[in-house]
Amino acid sequence: MTDVTMEKIVSLCKRRGFIYPGSEIYGGLSGTWDWGHLGLALKNNVKRLWWHTFVESREDIYGIDAAIIMNPKAWEASGHVSGFADPLASGKLFSTMFKTSVGAAEEAAVAYLRPETAGGIFVNFKNTVDSFHPTLPFGIAQIGKAFRNEIAPRDFIFRAREFEQMEIEYFVRPSEWEKSFEMWRENVHSFNDAVGIARDSVHEFEVPDFERAHYSKRTIDFEFDFPFGRKELFGLAYRTDFDLSAHAKASGADLTYQDEKTGERFLPHVIEPSFGVDRTILALFASAYTEDELGGETRTYLKFNKNVAPVKAAVFPLLKNKPELVAKAREVYSILKSLVPSIQFDDNGNIGKRYRRQDEIGTPACITIDFQTLEDDTVTLRDRDTGEQERVRITEIADRISA
Ligand code: GAP
Repeated sequence: MTDVTMEKIVSLCKRRGFIYPGSEIYGGLSGTWDWGHLGLALKNNVKRLWWHTFVESREDIYGIDAAIIMNPKAWEASGHVSGFADPLASGKLFSTMFKTSVGAAEEAAVAYLRPETAGGIFVNFKNTVDSFHPTLPFGIAQIGKAFRNEIAPRDFIFRAREFEQMEIEYFVRPSEWEKSFEMWRENVHSFNDAVGIARDSVHEFEVPDFERAHYSKRTIDFEFDFPFGRKELFGLAYRTDFDLSAHAKASGADLTYQDEKTGERFLPHVIEPSFGVDRTILALFASAYTEDELGGETRTYLKFNKNVAPVKAAVFPLLKNKPELVAKAREVYSILKSLVPSIQFDDNGNIGKRYRRQDEIGTPACITIDFQTLEDDTVTLRDRDTGEQERVRITEIADRISA
């Protein structure tokens, strides 16, 4: 078994262009991280998979992309201005909301960077109902940045000050919250399966009364076995009608929902599955990082699922100095690139080195063009995990490497 340490993950992430310390040439800025070419591709794939699973392939979820800076009254109503705080060593409470100001200096008004994407969803509940007339239960989903002035950012991207969330507020009849809670509980596990986080590395933790957020009547934390211990990956909360009721009161807007059959008006209750993008990525690195021996040499590789791997396949000419091989490899590369996103061309160093480089960034397949290709239009297709190679027709490659 590979000894997966944070040092190994952090170093690979930087070396291979996944994640860098934020503003590094200035000595960094604690709790911020910059995403390089491959990290961004991985992150986009995770977000796309989530959006596809929970929005595009369902009929009951609507998307929103709300402003990060909201009217501060929204955060007063939601209880964040008074209650979103962590205790300092002195015992005093410290608000973890980032403050900013809106408008010219003299009349500038205090505003906040949102500490959760949920806020932008609740303030658009009425807009969504008025535009789409959904029937209960239905949800509103948002992916976006959230900001928390964490007292002690730590463990790489696990606890950052700027991070991303993928959240759904799922509105239900008050009497039906338990059924929806169970559905989302299972959906969290299925998402983990799809993205490549093994079920036996995720553990449910029923959060006790005194530890729950101020808005929640029931919370399950999905904890993952990170290299630094078992810690929260995602959360699932029953927020009752806490938010809609607070926003209705503070804004004066009517946020009730009218039952289409009985005409009765009421405030729906809310089930909230909340996924952290950055923690998903860290769990993926911890799950995928593998060291083994192949052909008598030790190697490091990332066992990413095909659907999230930042590069789907790499195409090589066997020899760089044979123009006919390079031309053919370029041709195969162009064809594949038009069919499958994220294909790389590599002719640097020898074949063994190219394999190692692709293994280290988690590319599931390598395609080599050799002299036989020029005769029969077949190539070798090498599998990342086993290192095994087989001959495959060029016309069949796109199907074989697609996620
Ligand atoms: N809307 C509910 C909410 O924000 P939370 O448990 O505070 O609940 C939800 O956050 C998820 O956001 C967490 O499970 C985690 O994945 C992610 N998250 C929270 N704080 C984070 C931080 N400082 N850095 C990275 N991810 C964070």
